[in-house]
Amino acid sequence: MPTISDGLWAAPGRVNLIGEHTDYNEGYVLPFALPLRTYASASIVDSPQWMVSSEQQDDVVSFGPEQLTPGGVQGWAGYVAGIVWALHESGYEVPGARFALRSEVPVGSGLSSSAALECAVLTALCDLGDLDLPVPDRPKLAQRAENRYVGVPSGIMDQSASTLCREGHALFLDCRTLVTEHIPFDLAGAGLAILVVDTRAPHRHTDGEYAVRRHTCEQAAATLGVPALRDVTDLAGALKALPDEVSRKRVRHIVTENQRVLDTVALLRDGKLAEIGPLLTASHASMRDDYEITVPEVDTAVEAALAAGAYGARMTGGGFGGCVLALIDAPAAGAVGDAVTRAFADNGFTAPASFVAVPSGGATRVS
Ligand code: GLA
Repeated sequence: MPTISDGLWAAPGRVNLIGEHTDYNEGYVLPFALPLRTYASASIVDSPQWMVSSEQQDDVVSFGPEQLTPGGVQGWAGYVAGIVWALHESGYEVPGARFALRSEVPVGSGLSSSAALECAVLTALCDLGDLDLPVPDRPKLAQRAENRYVGVPSGIMDQSASTLCREGHALFLDCRTLVTEHIPFDLAGAGLAILVVDTRAPHRHTDGEYAVRRHTCEQAAATLGVPALRDVTDLAGALKALPDEVSRKRVRHIVTENQRVLDTVALLRDGKLAEIGPLLTASHASMRDDYEITVPEVDTAVEAALAAGAYGARMTGGGFGGCVLALIDAPAAGAVGDAVTRAFADNGFTAPASFVAVPSGGATRVS
């Protein structure tokens, strides 16, 4: 692990309160950043070379300009190379650097460990190289690294959350205009908490299924003659116009989910935090029945949390495993967590892990 360091930067993972798979349909999302962060200790080297080590990995990866072509570096370090590539592509003079990484964000749990890594490295390189890349423009660049260099067709939500979130707030993002609003989300003040349950369900076909969902949505928008499903205003009419049941279900999820985000934001603006519960639960049902991205472990976690008194609960993130969030009375965290653990044992599932998620700030220099 290199000890030389010009500074330490960090970027968080996220949970999405509501608005799932709406980002690549140019709709609305409402994530908040977690206190769990990926740390990048970084120092400049005086040649165009990048060296990356990580406490979570055994290998040290080095790359130079010849690897700055999509797919040039594979595996976990590809996210770092992707950021260097995307900056370079946008005309920035990227300083050579040595990175030592450490992450608190669990990998493969749907908490955006990849966005945390990308955004920590991007923030470090912008500072180290004194690059003139305004903070609001950084998510788009990090997304391009993931889409084009790593080859994952994700939307703009995760990098936006990791970069832009504010402590005590959820980030209301219009994924078409990229206009943001920080919505106060003072859970503690309302005596509430968000319990995140990592179901530890193995991801099944995640990447392929994500791409298929995205493709179906784009096809449906083309059939309906709109630029994106965000533009569907007459759901009943759209459902009549679509030729197949799968497209109808996907479109119904996206259109109703966008409305649920808007309804959630309206309630939060009025300080009615507990009242968003039914919207969270309706979002879950829509992901389960219409978008078909849940698995038995997440459905069980949602049902157990609701039975234990949660105001609402839903899977969060891309799906096919990962985490569930439940809105609960703060003192009930232990009891709700235990109820989910018991339900998992009854079903023969691997024991889940739970933690209370406090809305936190985005990427920053630490020292
Ligand atoms: C993943 C993607 C995001 C978003 C969510 C689903 O986290 O990276 O862009 O599409 O899935 O809401």
